[in-house]
Amino acid sequence: MNHSVRETILAAATGVPLFVQVYNEDHQASREELRRGLSARVPHIAPKFLYDALGSRLFDAITELPEYYPTRTEAGILDAHAQAIAAAIGSVGSLVDLGAASCAKGLRLISLLHPQRYVAVDISVEFLRAGLAQVQREHPQLQVTGVGLDFSAALNLPPECVQGRAAYFYAGSSIGNFTPADAVPFLAGVRAQARAGGLLIGVDLVKAEELLVPAYDDALGVTAAFNLNLLLHLNRLLGADFAVRDWRHVALFNREHSRIEMHLEARRTLTVHWDGGERKFAQGERLHTENSYKYSIDRFDALLRDAGFASTKCWTDPNRWFALFWASG
Ligand SMILES: C[S@@+](CC[C@H](N)C(=O)[O-])C[C@H]1O[C@@H](n2cnc3c(N)ncnc32)[C@H](O)[C@@H]1O
Repeated sequence: MNHSVRETILAAATGVPLFVQVYNEDHQASREELRRGLSARVPHIAPKFLYDALGSRLFDAITELPEYYPTRTEAGILDAHAQAIAAAIGSVGSLVDLGAASCAKGLRLISLLHPQRYVAVDISVEFLRAGLAQVQREHPQLQVTGVGLDFSAALNLPPECVQGRAAYFYAGSSIGNFTPADAVPFLAGVRAQARAGGLLIGVDLVKAEELLVPAYDDALGVTAAFNLNLLLHLNRLLGADFAVRDWRHVALFNREHSRIEMHLEARRTLTVHWDGGERKFAQGERLHTENSYKYSIDRFDALLRDAGFASTKCWTDPNRWFALFWASG
């Protein structure tokens, strides 16, 4: 970060959200990552590319669907155990919301923890800006900082953004997008930054396939639209010629890996072209777009300890569908 950005963060007044843009959507590295994924033996695209401006709006709509239990179940746990969660976390200077999106869950925690500073991090920059403005309207005295950042490789937050003891918040079971092996170094990175603070993290638990699959394949087709919209994003980022109508949304539970998988399946044999490349897809061939790992409480607790956290507390809902962990030490 250059000197003037650092000075700006330190001097940030309350009343106006500050925005630090680290991520640049048409960065060369993103295009290279996309070309590699499309050309791989099993073609795949990282789920972070689902979140362009429209993708973020579609995800917001998904959270209101009857089939999508994670958002309301996580919110219910926060409400039911608010005092115990606040007591476990203690007093914090900064609340750092990873993948904050609309900041709706961040707002709940702000009211509970009363931090001096709220730092919201997301790759979907325009959507985040709108969420931040709402946070600032509701809490005019709060120092509000937005960080446009891709944390998939590592959480490299400008250190000046976070002041005092920090609670990191990673909601919505987004940790499920990482393989367990990749989740450990990511969580270890959060722990290193949290130092005397800790991490409040939402985790989706293993449950019946009849509940899991519809949450990713709803009757209205909103999740299908969310997944298919990735193709429009790829067309923009790569100069590709994906035709949305040639593809269909597939969601399945892979029991062996304990994960929901989302794919886009070619409806007919076709060739897709992009700047500098092309690929033929046979009818029925799939492009893998998201994993969402489902954990048991013990398995996720072990993962937090593998990442170096010495102390964990866990709250869940009456159905044990979802868990919130506070990890520290
Ligand atoms: C599943 S949504 C969860 C949103 C919200 N926290 C909730 O619980 O409802 C994931 C959010 O993380 C953001 N995101 C996904 N991958 C990211 C990455 N690599 N770096 C930063 N943000 C990312 C998305 O833009 C999206 O807003």
